[in-house]
Amino acid sequence: MQTSRHINNTPGKFTLRYVRSEREPPSLAEDARTGLLTRPRSLPPKYFYDGFGSELFDRICATPEYYVTRTEDALLAARAEAIIGASQPDHILELGSGASRKTHHLLTACESRSMRCTYWPYDVCESILIQAGRRLMGAYRWLNVNALVGDYHAGLMHLPSPPGRRLFAFLGSTIGNFDRPQAIALLRELHAKMRPGDSFLLGADRVKEEFVLHAAYNDTAGLTAAFNLNLLRVINRELDADFDLQGFEHRALYNQDAQQVEMYLVANRPQAAHLRALNEMLSFEEGERILTEISRKFTRGGLRTLLRDAGFEVTAQYEPQNCYFSLVLARPI
Ligand code: SAH
Ligand code: AVI
Repeated sequence: MQTSRHINNTPGKFTLRYVRSEREPPSLAEDARTGLLTRPRSLPPKYFYDGFGSELFDRICATPEYYVTRTEDALLAARAEAIIGASQPDHILELGSGASRKTHHLLTACESRSMRCTYWPYDVCESILIQAGRRLMGAYRWLNVNALVGDYHAGLMHLPSPPGRRLFAFLGSTIGNFDRPQAIALLRELHAKMRPGDSFLLGADRVKEEFVLHAAYNDTAGLTAAFNLNLLRVINRELDADFDLQGFEHRALYNQDAQQVEMYLVANRPQAAHLRALNEMLSFEEGERILTEISRKFTRGGLRTLLRDAGFEVTAQYEPQNCYFSLVLARPI
């Protein structure tokens, strides 16, 4: 058994490093070529998250309609003691950590047990990692933050494996942005990184009434629309393209059969866009759309099956009274 280290007065340190790719994921140019030149058109959601996109997402989380963050936050606040008690982490490694706004519940639970863990936020967006690390270190003077910049589609093999017990966290229902085969593949890679004694905490959004989902992805302040359209701004900048952002509209709808919200950019008139870096001209008819994100919604049983199929056993499952969200604690088998 590892003993918890007690908090002393040594101030924490911040480091940031790039995680080496295990395999080269497609570049934006390759993704744009496959996603935009063939129909139905689509783009991977990871390109939402440049600095501006990450800020927009952070603001979406605070809208009255986006119940996801509030619900998970309240659930974590209520259950962090139990989660930390069960997992006893020396290290918390969080995938797709973003602004790390909910992680403080876990850190406070560590602090109240006089446990000093190290926090490893892992995200594709470097600027959000730096902001989040600064904020957390201001709140927890003892905290070491080792930020990791990388793309989880490039493989998890080269993520650091510090000695001691690790709690891996994947919050915010980002797992819902993967289709099932992609989700299983990522969870299996995570499983391969884990040792006996490690735990995995998964936050996942649940199937619910369509009007609640519709409102959450169509906020009245227009932040989700701006977040969606930012993808075209990223393509314009990175691929020397000339998409007219006024020529596209945000659309998010719930596909009941697939149990997923689908987000599209829809051309509001016939138009063309020149992608100079690809030497390609794209034409759009009015109403033509690009799928930019799926956001899958889960049942309690579906989550258990997903985790089981990736090699995990569920040890606890927490949900609020309205069953809007699940926090699932699991261990590798
Ligand atoms: N976990 C946070 C943020 C969720 S937003 C929360 O619960 O609020 C999704 C996060 O995943 C963003 O911060 C985004 O930058 C990150 N992300 C998206 N695709 C990624 C990828 N391929 N590799 C690593 N991080 C990714
Ligand atoms: C990060 N991810 C879980 C969010 C979601 O709900 O699928 C991204 C988002 N897209 C629109 N609003 C929020």
